[in-house]
Amino acid sequence: MSDRTPLIAGNWKLHKTIAEAEQFIQALLPRVSTAEGVDVAICPSFTALEAMVDSTRGSRVAVYAQNMHQADHGAFTGEVSAAMLTELDVGGVILGHSERRELFAETDRALAQKVPAALAAGLVPVLCVGETEEEREAGDTERKLRHQVQEGLARVDAERLGEVVIAYEPIWAIGTGLVATPEQAQDAIAFVRALVAGRSREQAERVRILYGGSVKADNAAELLALPDVDGALVGGASLDPESFAEIVAAALEG
Ligand code: 13P
Repeated sequence: MSDRTPLIAGNWKLHKTIAEAEQFIQALLPRVSTAEGVDVAICPSFTALEAMVDSTRGSRVAVYAQNMHQADHGAFTGEVSAAMLTELDVGGVILGHSERRELFAETDRALAQKVPAALAAGLVPVLCVGETEEEREAGDTERKLRHQVQEGLARVDAERLGEVVIAYEPIWAIGTGLVATPEQAQDAIAFVRALVAGRSREQAERVRILYGGSVKADNAAELLALPDVDGALVGGASLDPESFAEIVAAALEG
């Protein structure tokens, strides 16, 4: 076990109105109040961020956004800046989720600006990377990860790399019920850590790398026990307070 604090983050995607989010958080807070030694975050929609920040104040649950624009301001209809998130006391932001890359044309080039912009604003960036099924079958997993990690972190100063969180989410495991084997998860995440070590060995020991893709209460413990896996980015199973709390509990044991 490393001395990196595990992080369990729930990516709600396009789910939960404010009323639904309030119901969730009231059920979650008592279930995770004793989870000392695990960082917990929920990532609601933009519209529920403020309510969730208010409802989690003084608790161990942080609130992260699901996306952010790299510019401070400008003619970017529909976008949200880092300052708009920090004004609400949001603590971090998911960047480059595969759904944003695939469905909304998010590019590595934009991510190369988003990650340092988030850090500069005091937000924890959660940079998502991962290969498609075709890329894995073609033996292209490492090439894809190398490209995404190097591009996403290109403009982050080496001494700040440890402040970034990276989420390895194989696309074929997202929302499919197909979870990476422990060996696949460990190999890919160790590879990502080695990429960071190429910039700074010291920061590679600090950087937290999460696994994401069909994490559930019944498979979390095995994944979280892997030496390089520092937590989980959870989609579907984060929508239910009980199953999300069980995953947090698995991190306590891991
Ligand atoms: P699932 O846990 O639903 O597979 O989603 C994973 C994910 O995309 C988290 O960001």
